[in-house]
Amino acid sequence: MLPTLLVFLVLPARLCPVDAQGCTLKSLEEVVSRSDGDIIIGGTFPINYNWRDPEMVFTKPPEPILCNTFASRTYQWAQAMAFTISEINRDQNFFPNLTLGFLVYDTCLSLVRILKGTMRMLTGQAKPIANYQCQSQPSLAAFVADSGSTRSIATARLLGLYRYPQVSYFASSPLLSEKIQFPSFCRTIPSDDIQAWGLAQLVAHFEWSWVGLLSSEDDYGELGSQMLKSKLQKFGICIAFHETFSIVPTARKIIHIVDTVKRTSANAILVFSADPFMRPVMEELSKHNITGKVWLASEAWSTSPGVSTNKLASMLSGTIGFAIHESKIPGFEEFLLKLHPLNSPNDIFVKMFWEMAFRCRWPNSKINQTLVNLDANSSGDFCTGAEQLENLKSPNSNETDLRISLNIYNAVYSVAHALQDMNSCVPGKGPFANNTCANFQHFKPWQLLHYMKKVHFRNKMGEEMYFDRDGNPPAMYDIVNWHLQPDGTISYVNVGKFDSRAPKGEELYVNISAIQWNTQRTEIPRSVCSENCPPGYRKASQKGRPLCCFDCVLCAEGEVSNVTDSSTCWPCPSDQWPNQRRSKCTPKRKEFLSYQEPLGSTLAAIVVLWTIITILILCTFIKYRDTPIAKANNRALSFLLLGTLVLSFLCSLLFIGDPHPTTCLIRQTAFGITFVLCISCVLAKTIMVIIAFNATKPNSNFRGWLGPWVTIVLVSTSTFLQVFICTTWLLICPPFPEKNMKLKIGIIIWQCNECTDVAFWCMLGYMGLLACVSFLVAFLARKLPDSFNEAKWITFSMLVFLSVWLSFIPGYLSTQGKYTVAVEVFGIISSSAGILVCIFFPKCYIILLRPDMNTRQQLFGKGARKNKKIKTI
Ligand code: TRP
Repeated sequence: MLPTLLVFLVLPARLCPVDAQGCTLKSLEEVVSRSDGDIIIGGTFPINYNWRDPEMVFTKPPEPILCNTFASRTYQWAQAMAFTISEINRDQNFFPNLTLGFLVYDTCLSLVRILKGTMRMLTGQAKPIANYQCQSQPSLAAFVADSGSTRSIATARLLGLYRYPQVSYFASSPLLSEKIQFPSFCRTIPSDDIQAWGLAQLVAHFEWSWVGLLSSEDDYGELGSQMLKSKLQKFGICIAFHETFSIVPTARKIIHIVDTVKRTSANAILVFSADPFMRPVMEELSKHNITGKVWLASEAWSTSPGVSTNKLASMLSGTIGFAIHESKIPGFEEFLLKLHPLNSPNDIFVKMFWEMAFRCRWPNSKINQTLVNLDANSSGDFCTGAEQLENLKSPNSNETDLRISLNIYNAVYSVAHALQDMNSCVPGKGPFANNTCANFQHFKPWQLLHYMKKVHFRNKMGEEMYFDRDGNPPAMYDIVNWHLQPDGTISYVNVGKFDSRAPKGEELYVNISAIQWNTQRTEIPRSVCSENCPPGYRKASQKGRPLCCFDCVLCAEGEVSNVTDSSTCWPCPSDQWPNQRRSKCTPKRKEFLSYQEPLGSTLAAIVVLWTIITILILCTFIKYRDTPIAKANNRALSFLLLGTLVLSFLCSLLFIGDPHPTTCLIRQTAFGITFVLCISCVLAKTIMVIIAFNATKPNSNFRGWLGPWVTIVLVSTSTFLQVFICTTWLLICPPFPEKNMKLKIGIIIWQCNECTDVAFWCMLGYMGLLACVSFLVAFLARKLPDSFNEAKWITFSMLVFLSVWLSFIPGYLSTQGKYTVAVEVFGIISSSAGILVCIFFPKCYIILLRPDMNTRQQLFGKGARKNKKIKTI
């Protein structure tokens, strides 16, 4: 199988013959595979696992540790070492005159075994005596050790004493980066702090904020989960639970974990553990039919065929994990396919491998049956040796581990490169004391360590390899997704990568569309404690629960939040108001009595209608100005009254529409003045009735009062007084348009600020006073015999006027915004209409419909009759 290397099993009892130094010791337990060479590299691999610790009795010597399950995956790792060394030996550029050899030790995942193995390789004898080296040749250059952190830590402490270079291919604990504790340790697997950072980024990438965490109680799981927790916290991700299990989990613990996983609302569960330790937990979980969870794997189990078994496939399909970067090592697969027990008759591992792979037994197997407990089936048929490894390969098989093997490949190469660098040292220019070089035949371990720390090369696949200050390689991970195949097996599919050397923020790449979730859906499953708060809400933390669990509270009135999951709401600027969803501030709605809205347009239409009616009445009066009814009772005053009524109707239009500085300024005063003019006309009319009545009496001094000047004086003085009040108002404190934001929330009331209420009420009060006077006067004169019951109708009109304005007061005071204006417009319309109807409609009726009554006789006759009637009553 290996042309330059001879692999054979060394039975420890015969390893070190009795010699002068007396180094003869007996042991049956160690299983060592070796290939001779001038320089040896030691390697430790957990080829078998499931070790049984010896019974704790102290009355006899400790029994050997036995392990009973052969793992073809880890055997492949040892083969990767053999392959690399054979490749280096074939390469003339490295050591033309030397061959490298190796020693492979099966650690069984046991700490006792690895310590013994390391000592054994150091001292060269089966029963090691510290500080003594029995073997003289060849020299052991470095260790490629070990798989797990726990065991690597133990050996690194030992090897650190001698500064023996140690390169691990799978021990990723961040503790091993501490060079004070582990001076001679370096590795070809990145440290877990990078993995934890990457896993946290992955969780954040899927927007999961509520995750569970399971970890093993060993150096790997404990430190890794601790790192992971702190990195998750940095991303604001909360831990729903963190359960740990010992490397030999107890039934009680497993039940507790099953219970926790069943109850949790977290759908994403991170597992930071190595495959052999988590398997019992996962097997129990699968019995409880736990579905719908996304399992996130650390690199120790993400590509482990020991976990992706058919039994666990349905539960664990869809698992996403960080895996060691994979690269096809040219020639390695062919090398593995050429494995055959007959090619290496003394390699105990290859026979075990064959027996396991083909479920048969070698007829003359010399393997101590206590060491290997083969599959029950295998005890039946004998192996023929004609079995073909090619036939075993299925298309989706995860059998070839090109990930850890690559780490081993790089580890062996880094030792070879260090040796080569040491070999090519120019005498007199060496790095050691007095510029000396190391003696290549008898170099010291620390001398090789010096070169180890400096290696920098590209492997055959073109990938760069070096160790940083802490002995760590460049960090590169693949992201794998477990796809369930139709035949029920799992295949690991690369769906992304994580490269710590990429620019910040671009380290992680995930092709989400390539991911197969075990929910059978294409969208990313959710794993949150509380659903997101939409904009318009804010998060309110729940008492005693993690920050990721919160209630969504609607933003208070006037406040908004415009992002999802906002923790606060903020108030809108004073001229803005939240929209209905409270997700943004919009300009507040302006409120004023506009022509566009029904109320405004109806009022305006009524005003126009009444104005037209008034104008028509005015026209009728002008047309019939010479008829007795128009002539009677001061024709000019009637015209003036009708004119002012038109004005007062029209002035109500000043109240509708958006307030302008000018409309604000004139509207109340225009209203006040036209109305006073109107009432003073009415007053003048009544007074004229009284004067006329009295003037008819003989010797009356009222005769002189019959002239038009009385009316002129009366109307102008009373109007002047109002003009005076209004000008004072305008001068002292002119009304102005204002945007009132306080009156109604969410609405800007656009209104005219009257500036002073006193002036407004004075104006209105004066108008009221005048109306009262007219009412009183008209009331007194109501029974006087006048033409067409003028005084009576005036009494009515004033009654209407007063009642309108009396009811206006509470209406005006109790309404806000546009309704106040509407009340005032309504007051103006109804009071003017009242006057118009009461005073002019009866006259129009006579003019237009009863022209027969529009005669002087009728006028006086009726008046005389009426007078009589009064007297009879
Ligand atoms: N990266 C892991 C570690 O550093 C790998 C590991 C842990 C492992 N335990 C193991 C590998 C057991 C094989 C067997 O520890």
